[in-house]
Formats: sequence, structure tokens, C-alpha cells
Amino acid sequence: MIEMQDVYKKYPNGVQAMDGINIKIKAGEFVYVVGPSGAGKSTFIKMMYREEKPTGGDIVIDGVNLSKLKEKKVPILRRSIGVVFQDFKLLPQLTVYENVAFALEVIEESPKNIKKRVMEVLDLVKLKHKARHLPSELSGGEQQRISIARSIVNKPKVMIADEPTGNLDPDTSWEIMSIFEDINAQGTTIVMATHNREIVNTIKKRVIAIEHGKIVRDQAEGDYGYEA
Ligand SMILES: Nc1ncnc2c1ncn2[C@@H]1O[C@H](COP(=O)(O)OP(=O)(O)OP(=O)(O)O)[C@@H](O)[C@H]1O
Ligand SMILES: [Mg+2]
Repeated sequence: MIEMQDVYKKYPNGVQAMDGINIKIKAGEFVYVVGPSGAGKSTFIKMMYREEKPTGGDIVIDGVNLSKLKEKKVPILRRSIGVVFQDFKLLPQLTVYENVAFALEVIEESPKNIKKRVMEVLDLVKLKHKARHLPSELSGGEQQRISIARSIVNKPKVMIADEPTGNLDPDTSWEIMSIFEDINAQGTTIVMATHNREIVNTIKKRVIAIEHGKIVRDQAEGDYGYEA
């Protein structure tokens, strides 16, 4: 589902953020990306949805070679990948319902289908009753659940998340993880950068550790691995 071959990324300021990455992630896998601050986790994630372009190598997602992807096709790629961030990134002036419906309106789904699908995903994150609220009226955990609902409304095959529990308290973080596990159980491939040792060591998944832009460990059912 995701393949990187000899991927390099040097930012314009000269920082070598990715330094020869080779990786294969199969459909349906759940992968944690761990490593110290500045190791290159976010860069790794951003390259998967073409927020950043590699300066060398190839990235293929679900058969699409991102290096060869024309700029005008990037929105189509983004629609096939669900993205979740640490800071939710909801549109503040839109209701919960509208935030989630937005991605479907862009692709001109029928109003009936939009309503059905939006209510389905709001139900999955257990926030149907907040559909008419504004994001500012929700807790951080609730906002993250909406952001997850929004990311899966298009039924993407791949979901990538950059520290999705980074701004949440421990209890809320576990709730969010259980939603990610449900989504993964339905077949969606998940790649998640995280600093959350407890979660990585408890909900065992494949662990890829990055340091100085290189993969230094790739372990099935791995540990977080860094000293507290
Ligand atoms: N837009 C950018 N321009 C220049 N350098 C950047 C840019 N983004 C990141 N970097 C640098 O690239 C390296 C990797 O950064 P990245 O954000 O990928 O690390 P990270 O592993 O996500 O760190 P953290 O755990 O703190 O989020 C760092 O040295 C960072 O300073
Ligand atoms: Mg980061």
C-alpha cells in the first residue's frame, strides 16, 4: 500500500530530514513511527500526502507514484488519504456536521448520500448528538474525534496521523486510540507518528524508529524503546 525507495529530503535550508528511507507497508497494517524530536517523523508523514516532496527517491501509495504525480492530481491523492493532526485543524466557523460533510461536498456527492455518510462516521466516533455544535463548543478529545470522522468520511484506504494524541490527556488518548483500532479493524492502513510510550507499549503494533532521517529499527509488535 505504501512503498518508499531510497527517499531523501533536504529542506531548502540544508537540513537533511530524510536520509535514505526504504520501507514497505502492506494494506491493513498499523504502524507507529517513533523517534526523538527532529528525527524526521513529520517529514516522513508529510511526504505521504505530498505536503512535502522528496528531493530523491520514489514514494508509491496504492499504486500511485507521488514523484510523478502532476500538481493538479494532488487533490485526488489527498482525497484517498485520511490525515489527522495533533491540533485538529477543524474549520471554526463551520458546525461539526459541516466540517465532516465538507470533503464530500467537494466531490459533489448527492445531499442524501452526504447526510447518510456523515451521520455514519459521527456515529462511529460517538458524536452524532454534537452535529449542530461549533468546534469551539467541544472538548479537545471531541474535536479530535471530529477530525478523525472528517478524515475517514471518504473511506480512504490509508490514514496517516501526526501525534494525534499529542494535545490530549491520557484517558482521552486511549479513547482516540480505540477509534483508530476500530478503523484499522475495518481494513484501513494506518501510519501514526507518536511520542506516546504508554500507548505504543500497550497496543502492540509494528514500530518504525527514525533517527537523523534514517530508519534505525523496524519491529513487528515493537516497543517504544527510548528511555523515559
Ligand atoms: N519546513 C522545514 N524547513 C526546514 N527544515 C525543516 C522543515 N521542517 C522540518 N525541518 C527540519 O527537519 C528535521 C526533521 O523535522 P521533523 O519535523 O520531520 O521532525 P519530527 O521527528 O517530526 O520532530 P518532532 O518530534 O519534534 O515533531 C528537523 O531538523 C527540522 O528542524
Ligand atoms: Mg513532528
